[in-house]
Amino acid sequence: MIDVLLGLQWGDEGKGKVVDFLAEKYDIVARFQGGPNAGHTLVLDGVKHVLHTIPSGIFRTNVMNIIGNGVVLDPITFEQELLSLDKANIGDFRSRLLVANKTHLILPIHRLLDATYEAAKGAAKIGSTLRGIGPCYTDKVARVGLRVGDLKGADFKAKYEKLKNQHLTAIANLPKVDFDLAGEEEKFFNSLAALKALKHVDCEFYLDNAIKAGKKILAEGAQGSMLDVDFGTYPFVTSSNTITAGVCTGLGVAPQKIGEVFGITKAYCTRVGSGPFPTELDNEIGEKLRQIGNEFGATTGRNRRCGWIDLVQLRYTVMLNGVTQLIMTKADVLNTFEEIKQAVAYQLPTERTTELPYNLDQVALTPVYKPYQGWMQDIDATKGYEGLPQALKNYIKEIEEYLGVPVTFISTGPDRKELIVR
Ligand code: GDP
Ligand code: IMO
Ligand code: MG
Repeated sequence: MIDVLLGLQWGDEGKGKVVDFLAEKYDIVARFQGGPNAGHTLVLDGVKHVLHTIPSGIFRTNVMNIIGNGVVLDPITFEQELLSLDKANIGDFRSRLLVANKTHLILPIHRLLDATYEAAKGAAKIGSTLRGIGPCYTDKVARVGLRVGDLKGADFKAKYEKLKNQHLTAIANLPKVDFDLAGEEEKFFNSLAALKALKHVDCEFYLDNAIKAGKKILAEGAQGSMLDVDFGTYPFVTSSNTITAGVCTGLGVAPQKIGEVFGITKAYCTRVGSGPFPTELDNEIGEKLRQIGNEFGATTGRNRRCGWIDLVQLRYTVMLNGVTQLIMTKADVLNTFEEIKQAVAYQLPTERTTELPYNLDQVALTPVYKPYQGWMQDIDATKGYEGLPQALKNYIKEIEEYLGVPVTFISTGPDRKELIVR
């Protein structure tokens, strides 16, 4: 079976931390979508590590990590990630890292396109991480992309040049952005050796054999369900399917092989980049959440927008993903808030609803909040669930009742150890 862990909000829910924790009990951790737009933070014995493309099982010596066909991989940032792991003292991690032949490559031209198209959008920009994600997935769907398996071909350079020139022609009349294409291309070709030196596999066969051999697999999501290209806050989304369905296409596994679906949410909510965010607090409360929660992007360093937890939004993503267990992170960030709120409905001009409206970014919407008294004390994972303040237990109980799924893990700090298993 293959279990799944993915974000239920707009990303940065703490996926990396929890995947690393859970990985101890798995044989394989597999990334199934996204690329270096992701930033997954792990804190091990006080030392912080940020992963972008490499699965968060890499710090566990018992675990094989695989980058699936649904991922888009930038060889330049990938090599940098490998080099930073060399310093982490985790043994021969390259032997525990596989890359799917069908994984698409992010080329320098994709980053140039990302920057050019975002600039051309002006005020309507998505707030992309500018890692070339959208243009790379566009080429995949347009059936012109280059894949890891193509690296071995004698015609790789010729295909590369053809694709690059097509794109350069397409953007010739758009305003120019500051991008050193020749310099980035040199880096790109120099970085390929590191990627080629790893083992490349047909991910679908590899995982099928692993499942038949009874191995335990955990699929690691990137981004969050509200950034899903089909069901997120379109067009302010990323370019992949971030929901459970993406596991099937992103790794080549059949739906009946999916087991547990761990849905992860913060005790509040954040979003980076543009787009609707109903419970956003553009005030001193939001600023307090940002400061205490250290809500600055792990990839771009941008301020994350902060707000209260939104149960309407979470019920939607629990539904889309078939979540079987909930994981709540960053409960500690709320320790000093006298009053905490949960959105339980949306008031629209003509009705009150608990379903996400189609035109979330255009409709006049006011969240209906249920207030809670804060617990106003520190929380400590070593005391277990029973040791948590009653007010926090009440807050969790309401979430479980509203969403109809149990909260089985509660994270109380960034470190691997700061996690309560219920
Ligand atoms: P991901 O993209 O879902 O893996 O999440 P990020 O790593 O981008 O963002 C989560 C941030 O919160 C990181 O800085 C983590 O170290 C931190 N973090 C994770 N869990 C907790 C927690 O329970 N409490 C606190 N205070 N920080 C946490
Ligand atoms: P992790 O895995 C939060 C956001 C960007 C932007 C939109 C589109 O760390 O949770 P893209 O670069 O994909 O074209 O950007 O999606 N975004 C994320 N926000 N966490 C992420 O990943 C994100 N990856 C992309 O900020 O609004
Ligand atoms: Mg992140």
